[in-house]
Amino acid sequence: MKLSDNKAKLSFSNGSPEVDLPVYQGTIGPDVIDIRKLYAQTGQFTYDPGFMSTASCQSAITYIDGDKGELLYRGYPIEQLAEKCDYLDTCYLLLKGELPDATQRKDFHKLVLDHTMVNEQMQFFLRGFRRDAHPMAVLTGLVGAMSAFYHDSIDVHNAEHRDIAAIRLISKMPTLVAMAHKYGVGQPYMYPRNELSYAGNFLRMMFGTPCEDYKVNPVLERAMDRIFILHADHEQNASTSTVRLCGSSGTNPFAAIAAGVACLWGPAHGGANEAALNMLEDIQKMGGIAKLGEFVERVKDKNSGVRLMGFGHRVYKNYDPRAKLMQETCNEVLTELGLENDPLFALAKALEKIALEDDYFVSRKLYPNVDFYSGIVQRAIGVPVKLFTGIFALARTVGWIAQLNEMMGDPEYKIGRPRQLYVGAARRDVP
Ligand code: SDX
Repeated sequence: MKLSDNKAKLSFSNGSPEVDLPVYQGTIGPDVIDIRKLYAQTGQFTYDPGFMSTASCQSAITYIDGDKGELLYRGYPIEQLAEKCDYLDTCYLLLKGELPDATQRKDFHKLVLDHTMVNEQMQFFLRGFRRDAHPMAVLTGLVGAMSAFYHDSIDVHNAEHRDIAAIRLISKMPTLVAMAHKYGVGQPYMYPRNELSYAGNFLRMMFGTPCEDYKVNPVLERAMDRIFILHADHEQNASTSTVRLCGSSGTNPFAAIAAGVACLWGPAHGGANEAALNMLEDIQKMGGIAKLGEFVERVKDKNSGVRLMGFGHRVYKNYDPRAKLMQETCNEVLTELGLENDPLFALAKALEKIALEDDYFVSRKLYPNVDFYSGIVQRAIGVPVKLFTGIFALARTVGWIAQLNEMMGDPEYKIGRPRQLYVGAARRDVP
């Protein structure tokens, strides 16, 4: 980051001394006011619940322009990556900062695809769960449990350990998500097949059975790979900030990623894809498109507590570029499967049209986000609704790791420890 010629000056009406605060510039995007010395100089904290105006770190991984609806991974627009690259190329880019050349690409694909099996003991760990446990509960446990199996790559301060843990997590997440699914439906696990692509392997582990050969549908394979790309990273969102804060204590990479999985589960974050699809199915049951007006009125009524799931975003105040790409993927998959007239897709498009023309949403800059269409395409592929967020976690694992590694490699890194405005009881004695 570069020191700006501009300075911030903080003055107080009570005559306390003025404070000069340095301003730093990034490559693109908002400058930052450096308040690191503020408490030492003024004895006061800043106050920013939800971090609406706070940059928690400097990062070179992902850039979002919420007003333009722009998303760049290491400077490359998501639209170009989704069209010209595959998910493992994107993983290489996020982890190493550059797209791989032909040799690097071949080696990286092989490295990942040769480590897709999990320790055979893990299947016994799964047996401890109820069959009807939510897959995200199982996945949170499985990812955390990886630190109980892979002792040789848990020193987060060791760059080599971080690299090994990164490959293990990227390679094994599809296997773990598929195992959580198979456990829930009472089917045998499918072992990974290393001759398949990353996405093809996942589809076979999810939908294949030992009773017959599973033929990967190339349209669904490409769609799943694109879903992974679109969810790979997203700057300092809630789960990534959780991974950074958790990892800053020096805990092992698997534990930090497990914390990210737990945070992503929430319906305001990664759980929104499951909530958005459930919302569309509820509207369908109420009467479908004919009832959309009534539903939208309920959303606009604050007392209803009803939100338009898959809409709105803390950063995007324009259309989420991932939502556009997800809608295209939706079209491709539904056409391939002969589901062009899928009523939920028609309902979603009609709901989007109403919302984008309604001043309540327009005035609040509420647009579809990545979760609005992702549920429809995953449902069409055959993914159970409860597994949508597990697939989001699978795809986001590389982003979490890249961000954790960037933090641990930053010489300025410290353990994260926010302060507070205390509004509780003053000191008092027990009677
Ligand atoms: C993800 O951060 C990331 O980058 C996350 C993510 C990633 O890739 O990591 O992009 C993934 O989490 C996408 C978001 C998925 N969540 C949802 O779709 C759930 C529904 N959306 C919201 O709950 C909400 O929009 C948030 C949580 C996403 C953003 O909330 P903010 O920025 O805190 O905004 P807010 O709640 O303060 O809302 C501002 C106004 C409020 O109205 P007023 O008080 O001004 O009258 O907009 C309203 C809100 O009531 N509003 C909505 C709404 N979202 C905001 N009203 C109806 N439906 C919605 N979805």
